[in-house]
Amino acid sequence: MEPKDEIKQRLDIVDLVSEYIPLKPAGSGNFKGLCPFHGEKTPSLYVSREKDIWHCFGCDKGGDIFSFLMELEGMTFPEVLQFLGKKAGVEIPEFTPEKGRDEKQFIFGLHELAGRFYETILHKHDEGGVARQYLKQRGIDDELAKKFQLGYAPERWDALVQFLLGKEFVENQITAAGLAKFRQSGNGLIDRFRGRLMIPLFDSAGHLVGFTGRLLKEEENAPKYLNSPETMIYHKSDVLFGLHLAKRAIRREKAVIIVEGNLDVIASHKAGVENIVASSGTALTESQLRQLQKITNRLIFSFDRDAAGFEAARRGIRIAQSMGFDIRVIQILPSDGKDPDDLVQKNPARWVTLAQKPVHVMDYYFAKALDDYNVSEVDGKRAMAHFILQEISRLADNLDQEHWIQKLSDVIHVETSILRGMLTKQEKEAVTTQPKTFSAETEVKKITTLSEKAASFLIGLLFSEEDAVNDILPRLKIDDLPDPWQRIYKEFIILYNQRKSENHTQNTFFSLFQDHLSTIGLESQISKLSASVIRAKELIDGFTRDQVREEISRHLSLIASKSHDAKRKQLEAAIRQAELSGDEDRLRALIEQYTKLLN
Ligand code: CTP
Ligand code: MN
Repeated sequence: MEPKDEIKQRLDIVDLVSEYIPLKPAGSGNFKGLCPFHGEKTPSLYVSREKDIWHCFGCDKGGDIFSFLMELEGMTFPEVLQFLGKKAGVEIPEFTPEKGRDEKQFIFGLHELAGRFYETILHKHDEGGVARQYLKQRGIDDELAKKFQLGYAPERWDALVQFLLGKEFVENQITAAGLAKFRQSGNGLIDRFRGRLMIPLFDSAGHLVGFTGRLLKEEENAPKYLNSPETMIYHKSDVLFGLHLAKRAIRREKAVIIVEGNLDVIASHKAGVENIVASSGTALTESQLRQLQKITNRLIFSFDRDAAGFEAARRGIRIAQSMGFDIRVIQILPSDGKDPDDLVQKNPARWVTLAQKPVHVMDYYFAKALDDYNVSEVDGKRAMAHFILQEISRLADNLDQEHWIQKLSDVIHVETSILRGMLTKQEKEAVTTQPKTFSAETEVKKITTLSEKAASFLIGLLFSEEDAVNDILPRLKIDDLPDPWQRIYKEFIILYNQRKSENHTQNTFFSLFQDHLSTIGLESQISKLSASVIRAKELIDGFTRDQVREEISRHLSLIASKSHDAKRKQLEAAIRQAELSGDEDRLRALIEQYTKLLN
């Protein structure tokens, strides 16, 4: 028997869950309690002793005892295995990566080893001296460094490579993990990270999936931060730095602070503020926000004071608004420094106070506008009115809108009736307005239209962007697509594989594909496809290669998660049906599928 199954057999899921939340009998052998994953007053989390699973009918989370602890405690799977193994008296061999496992598994393994290697260099080796000195100067002590598993990549060509080869990994595995690249000469590998402070990045389940390396001294022709490349396990647009250490505090504080820099997160922990994550300098993505939405509904932005910081904050705030978050802002004043890290080094107590008293997002915009515009002049008034009204129009609540119109009127000395008139005009002109009411029906419709839109974008890209095929094909599963994209994609793969060797340009391939659709009777789809090709091209207009990649990853994960949601809904309905009809065999089979799906 697998250790996991043996543990489940020996331990009682009801006892284990009761250690975290009080459970009451709920009839038919089930227990229920208040769900710790979303705020609620009547219990909707059910635990089934017999089936060894839990499910919350309020927020739709569920799984077995392993997923419960991973979610609640932010532990990784191996950690839960160790933890429960001890409780159950089941011996768990320590996790040692080895060759021959599937690709993802060894990339995880390689990262664990690399992380430990860099840590050892930092704390124990002479070579790490410079980095220890650097940490000291930035106010990061040993304890804090260990909490974030910081390390140091020595100033050598192939220190990590030699270490990993000694552990019986082969060159191709090390490059696939993004930890090294082949030398220009083609002979042997060189480490990707050299002479950098190593900051490990974790996914939301707590697996080490990549690194960002910071130069100890700023140099002219080397980037200050160097990141792992996208790999099978690392998708930049999905990672939120610090999330694995923040979950508990986020639940406790019922809010999460979002900053730009990784070092800001680390500094904040030093001040004792732990409900914090970093977007790591990229635009905040929907996929990142969805991870947070599972834990809290309140976001507190604290971005850098500069113009870039403001723009990044505004973009993030807009996405978050459209997702229904409650948003606050911590304002860093000029006297505080340029970012939270600066502030903590100067005055940790002030950071703690600010974190407790974030301001309304509109106050943030007012302050920014007053900085930017001279409202004693008519042009300044107009500019400020325009800027602020645009943000007011995004507020869902009429009373909120009225409140801020009043305030705007007070600040620029313009009658509210005039401002209201301007607002109506702007709202009419706005392309995107936020839906003000939610109903289950529109929600479901939103899910399908979202995944349709993403599908249309990705399929469109296949015909319009060089290289997109290589990025999309290995990662987009046919089954995850909604119709008719599923059919179109399937045909694309067939034709692509047939004609790959002919070196078509994208345009000639596209016309070839249209012919193909006609011959198999799918000509009705051609105009839809053409529209998506045009639209996709428009959407990425002016984007760099990396930004395109980011967009691709974001849409891929959106499609995967929507498809997962749909599958789960179907299975839940089938389980209810089987329960009603008392079909035990079918029920067992369905529950098995269901737990598999959730794992
Ligand atoms: N970043 C990056 N590449 C760069 C610069 C920044 O990936 N060349 C990312 C890093 O994740 C960094 C974040 O953007 O944490 C914020 O950048 P910045 O404000 O410049 O860095 P700080 O966090 O202030 O870093 P430090 O205090 O070490 O200068
Ligand atoms: Mn900084």
